[in-house]
Amino acid sequence: MKAVTWSQPDDCVLCRRRMWRKMLRPCNLLLWQVALSLSYHVVTASPCGGGSDIFAALRENSPTGQFISELGITAEPGANRANSLRLCVSGEDAAWFYLDGRTLRLNASDPRVLDKEAQGPMLIAELTCYQDDVIQSKFRILVEILNENDNRPKFVEETIHRFTVNELTAVNSVLFTVKAVDADGDVISYIIDPSSSDPQFFRIDLPNSGKIVLNKPLDYETRTQVQVLIWAQEVNTEEKFNTSAVLTVNIEDGDDQYPHFLPCTRVSPGVPVCVSPTYSTNITQKHQDLVLKFSPGPIRAEDGDRGLNTPLIYSILSGGNQSRFEINNRTGEIQLTRAVPLRHQEKTFTLSVMVCQEDDHLKYSVVSVLIRVLNENTFPPVFNRTTFKGFIVQNLNPASIVTTYGNHVLQILASDRDFSDGLNPNIHYSILPPSGLYQVTNDGVLIARTDSLHAFDRHIIQVVARDEESGEEVSASVDIEVLQTGQLVPRGAFTEQQMFGNVDSRLAGGIIAIILLLVLSAVVFLMLRVVKRR
Ligand SMILES: *[C@@H]1O[C@H](CO)[C@@H](O)[C@H](O)[C@H]1NC(C)=O
Ligand SMILES: *[C@@H]1O[C@H](CO)[C@@H](O)[C@H](O)[C@H]1NC(C)=O
Ligand SMILES: *[C@@H]1O[C@H](CO)[C@@H](O)[C@H](O)[C@H]1NC(C)=O
Ligand SMILES: *[C@@H]1O[C@H](CO)[C@@H](O)[C@H](O)[C@H]1NC(C)=O
Ligand SMILES: *[C@@H]1O[C@H](CO)[C@@H](O)[C@H](O)[C@H]1NC(C)=O
Ligand SMILES: *[C@@H]1O[C@H](CO)[C@@H](O)[C@H](O)[C@H]1NC(C)=O
Repeated sequence: MKAVTWSQPDDCVLCRRRMWRKMLRPCNLLLWQVALSLSYHVVTASPCGGGSDIFAALRENSPTGQFISELGITAEPGANRANSLRLCVSGEDAAWFYLDGRTLRLNASDPRVLDKEAQGPMLIAELTCYQDDVIQSKFRILVEILNENDNRPKFVEETIHRFTVNELTAVNSVLFTVKAVDADGDVISYIIDPSSSDPQFFRIDLPNSGKIVLNKPLDYETRTQVQVLIWAQEVNTEEKFNTSAVLTVNIEDGDDQYPHFLPCTRVSPGVPVCVSPTYSTNITQKHQDLVLKFSPGPIRAEDGDRGLNTPLIYSILSGGNQSRFEINNRTGEIQLTRAVPLRHQEKTFTLSVMVCQEDDHLKYSVVSVLIRVLNENTFPPVFNRTTFKGFIVQNLNPASIVTTYGNHVLQILASDRDFSDGLNPNIHYSILPPSGLYQVTNDGVLIARTDSLHAFDRHIIQVVARDEESGEEVSASVDIEVLQTGQLVPRGAFTEQQMFGNVDSRLAGGIIAIILLLVLSAVVFLMLRVVKRR
């Protein structure tokens, strides 16, 4: 009985494995066997006799100890050192094998795992049989690794990077191609997850191609970025392993919007169309060489394609009145170059201002600009008295006009020296605080609600005259007395109170003097008669 000992691979002479490996890789197992039987000389002699090359197949991920092959060597492994047989596995992959008696088994002790994707399709080693350290025979060990689906598909990083797509990209065009690979070489199909955030924008026409097609127009003005979740899934395997990636697509602005004037008021919420403002300003005849300040202001437009921000050109289409108004074609600033003549009939200039894109004059917008010519305001309005006197006679009419002395209509008019006739048409009259009993018309006439008044009442009201152009105000008080039905309105101030205040009272004084004189003469006449009788 001869002893067989098993040597570790390290002890063994490295065989011509490199050459072999090179040859073997592209070939399949059958070719191998043919090649080997031609090229390899098998030494068969006792006790190493009975052996042969080993061809076997192993599944990936097989556990350690997995049976590979039974050796044909006739000698039994034993402990007889005197006449020792030594079996040695050598070669690059020798560490994957161990001998258990005459059985060749897989050594996949932790952490090693037999992985076809890492190891390649074959394990190659040599089995050498020594007797007394003399090579008796050599055998090839060729173990094919059978594939298992132990890898998931993986996206190729470069194909799922951020993408930038112009918003004007035509629907149905291919935006980009995603690609996933599977180490097991499985066929992969791609699916857009319908529950991801923006699946509606994309579709995949050919599931195996990974070509992402634009399904719906993009609009930079509403969205500048969309996201989609894409699955890559094995098709031909039982496990159908999958992986997913979120694609972020940045939308690039395209020139599809017109410029609009600011501030932009949306036609309705969410609709990206602006209603143009109307710019207005006030000038007077005195102004010239002036950059006009508008409200809302300044006159400014912006390109609807904010991502492009194309340069804009401003121009006055009409109303410029022979370059009385000039616009800066870059800034939209409007300048008054010449003063408006004093005798100018027009109160308002209406300019039509256009803005267009420098690179596309057909993308434009037009706005109205109102320039009011106000009268030069140097003087405030004034009342020629601080207090006016009014009377109202009680009657059955619901309303009556307040009169003044001599039963004349009381008209409280403020005069304005800015106007040649003293009458500023922009003055508005009001009663402060508003009274329920009186109203004032824009001609300065007071109207009383006669039905709510009581005889002998006295009201003092405050009338305010306001220049609507300049905002200047002046006020005066009106002292109104309510007279009894039938009572006469006094002709003048004196009959009421002052006896000797003015011309009227002097006249009254004269009358009184005459009356006194008459009374006196009557007394003298009576006294004279009494004296005569005596
Ligand atoms: C398997 O290989 C490892 C080294 O790779 C070695 O330490 C171990 O002893 C081997 N197991 C057997 C049973 O030979
Ligand atoms: C991906 O695989 C998981 C299980 O691993 C499964 O729940 C999911 O539905 C798969 N996705 C698709 C799109 O098939
Ligand atoms: C111009 O004057 C009018 C009154 O005539 C006034 O209502 C308006 O607020 C003024 N506008 C500006 C911009 O000053
Ligand atoms: C322009 O101004 C002139 C006076 O300078 C006036 O007679 C004419 O009516 C104005 N025209 C327009 C269109 O405003
Ligand atoms: C804008 O105005 C300047 C002078 O102010 C002129 O030279 C230029 O040609 C104008 N540009 C256009 C596009 O009208
Ligand atoms: C005060 O003004 C009125 C017109 O509002 C006028 O009739 C009256 O004569 C003026 N009185 C004086 C004293 O100027």
